[in-house]
Amino acid sequence: MKTSCLSVPVAEPMPSAGFLSEVIHGLSQAPKSLPCKYFYDEEGSRLFNEICELEEYYPTRIEDQILRDNIFEIAGLIGNGCRLVEFGSGTSAKTRHLLTYLSELSSYVPIDISGVQLRESAGQLAREFPHLEICPLEADYCGISGLPGTNRDPGKTIAFFPGSTIGNFEPDEAVGFLRNIASICGTGGSLLIGVDRKKDRRILEPAYNDRNGITARFNLNILARANRELGADFDIKSFRHHAPYIEALGRIEMRLVSTCPQTVHVDSRDFNIEEGECITTEYSYKYTLAGFAMLAWKAGFELVKSWQDDNNLFSVLFLRVLRRPTRYGGTLPDLREDPVSVRVW
Ligand code: TRP
Repeated sequence: MKTSCLSVPVAEPMPSAGFLSEVIHGLSQAPKSLPCKYFYDEEGSRLFNEICELEEYYPTRIEDQILRDNIFEIAGLIGNGCRLVEFGSGTSAKTRHLLTYLSELSSYVPIDISGVQLRESAGQLAREFPHLEICPLEADYCGISGLPGTNRDPGKTIAFFPGSTIGNFEPDEAVGFLRNIASICGTGGSLLIGVDRKKDRRILEPAYNDRNGITARFNLNILARANRELGADFDIKSFRHHAPYIEALGRIEMRLVSTCPQTVHVDSRDFNIEEGECITTEYSYKYTLAGFAMLAWKAGFELVKSWQDDNNLFSVLFLRVLRRPTRYGGTLPDLREDPVSVRVW
């Protein structure tokens, strides 16, 4: 993990030892899987930015609109003199707008696994916001135990976790991850988070199976990366992208389906893959508002306010760290505002 409190951090290539052991582990499972955090090499980050611009991929656009429409109320809840910490900052595109309205921030801590992107966007933000202290952290945000030191009093800590990335965790992992965020933020801290809602598969599935095949290229890129970095020999052409919505589990499953029987070699190990066999690369869980409020409460957060678009496709939630984040401590979230989802949750 590399930290720096200057505007530009030093990039450090991700060591491939973890990648190799995780790929071997994933391919040894039944069903086979590959770890989604390795999507984001330079090509993967570029393709992901393209996904965010796709017509079918509504979450980025709608979340951005919700943040814009409610920016004054959000800024009021966040208050002055805070440290804003973004988990998985990417190009910091959404944050730029927030930073403009949070003029009294003490500092901004973008955290991202992609050093190249982090370096570029931190440098750019330092030029756009010369008075803001920017403390980038190049790291896998799942393993963060503390934040870089600052030159100023950091004030209250506000975590920002947009993009419905919380949906890429299994629900129990999401509780653990949010619990860690709660302990990093501490008493008085809060979390501003984007959550994709449960909805009709006719809206969900096109978002993950776009007609131009960008999501397919993004998904297949993990195989290309394994070939490049680990000397694996995946035949990219004999896999096809497929991302169905599994309604009973409330999640999109990103899969790579083998179109023929084949054997893949990774570091002197052989993996037989049957025709039609799937390698799962990622889940994207969808939530009802009540379901997510309950999950966050288990992690030590209480829901203060939520905003959504007119069609309830996506929500942005402002949650506060419970004063005593004990197991099942604090006040139960008020679920009455969302009676339909209470029943289905
Ligand atoms: N977290 C977002 C989602 O699940 C973005 C995302 C992660 C994504 N991986 C993806 C979008 C793969 C499309 C394809 O929607």
